[in-house]
Amino acid sequence: MAAAEGPDSLRARSEGGLGGASRTPHVDVDAIAREAREAVAAASTAAALEAVRVKYLGRQGALTQLLRSLGTLSAEERPLVGAAANEAKRELEALLDQRLAVAQDAERTRARAAARPDLTLPGRRPPLGIVHPLKRVEDEIIEVFAGLGFSVVEGPEIETDYNNFEALNFPKDHPARDMQDTFFVPGELLLRTHTSPVQIRTMQAQRPPVRVIVPGRVYRRDIADASHSPVFHQVEGLAVDRDISMGDLKGTLELFARELFGPRSKIRFRPSFFPFTEPSAEVDVLCFLCVGDGCRLCKQSGWLEILGSGMVHPNVLRNVGYDPEEVTGWAFGMGVERIAMLRYGVDDLRLFFDNDLRFLRQFA
Ligand code: DAH
Repeated sequence: MAAAEGPDSLRARSEGGLGGASRTPHVDVDAIAREAREAVAAASTAAALEAVRVKYLGRQGALTQLLRSLGTLSAEERPLVGAAANEAKRELEALLDQRLAVAQDAERTRARAAARPDLTLPGRRPPLGIVHPLKRVEDEIIEVFAGLGFSVVEGPEIETDYNNFEALNFPKDHPARDMQDTFFVPGELLLRTHTSPVQIRTMQAQRPPVRVIVPGRVYRRDIADASHSPVFHQVEGLAVDRDISMGDLKGTLELFARELFGPRSKIRFRPSFFPFTEPSAEVDVLCFLCVGDGCRLCKQSGWLEILGSGMVHPNVLRNVGYDPEEVTGWAFGMGVERIAMLRYGVDDLRLFFDNDLRFLRQFA
């Protein structure tokens, strides 16, 4: 409504429009209507529009009061003022509804914009874990043997003396049984000093043929230093069947070495001794750093010792109820930490257990 327009022009063009056409001496419907229109025009938010509604159309609102007071008017005035006030009310309602819809729409748009993620912000990178290098090496070892048809089995870390020593043909006075080496657990139990007792458990539980690969944690009473830890990991292998020979062991370990250390890898057997194998051999792999020339890693020997092995001792087969005349077998055991140290050039075993992220991240 332009300010220049006076009440007369307003009324003149308000026939049937907001405010009606009445000329009433008592109440100027047009004035209320004009004021309301201006209030609506000035209100830009839904809340402000609601306030205008209350002011004019609420229970105490100006138009409501006016309509309620029609009874006090004269009989001639009443229909004129009534019609004008009702018309003004309808128009104000329609105007408010329309403006409210616009305001609410704008408010919703603003709220959506405020809630919308800012795609230009740099992303937050969740810290991503990696497989621990020891687990990775263990997985790789297992994968080679799983590919040859070996089943993965595990055994308990708390063992009996029988499974850990006796059934594996350790004499009663063997130094490995000493307090110096073994953690004993009350109840004639101990923390297994190697994964070999799982050979006993496996053979006790099944008839030949047996082909198992056994990863696990083992314990020894050692003070932690660069090459010792009271807890470390081994992977044991065992194959028992008719006509299993040392040649099978050699062929299997040659394939294993090529898979783990590369196609040019070679192994050699050195005679050794373990109570549970006869004959026994320690197996070296050609140093993958110098390929046999001699270097710091292999201490100039050209070879790296990676495992102990041998043909399962007949006493061990007998102890689990197998007939050594009928079946033979080979076994091996290797230290996971040792292989991981060689593989990754880590010179201190303790690094694998410190869980220093700066160390571990290098294996990502
Ligand atoms: N148990 C032996 C150790 O802890 C390693 C070992 C050697 C396991 C020869 C075997 C084996 O199965 O045949 O030192």
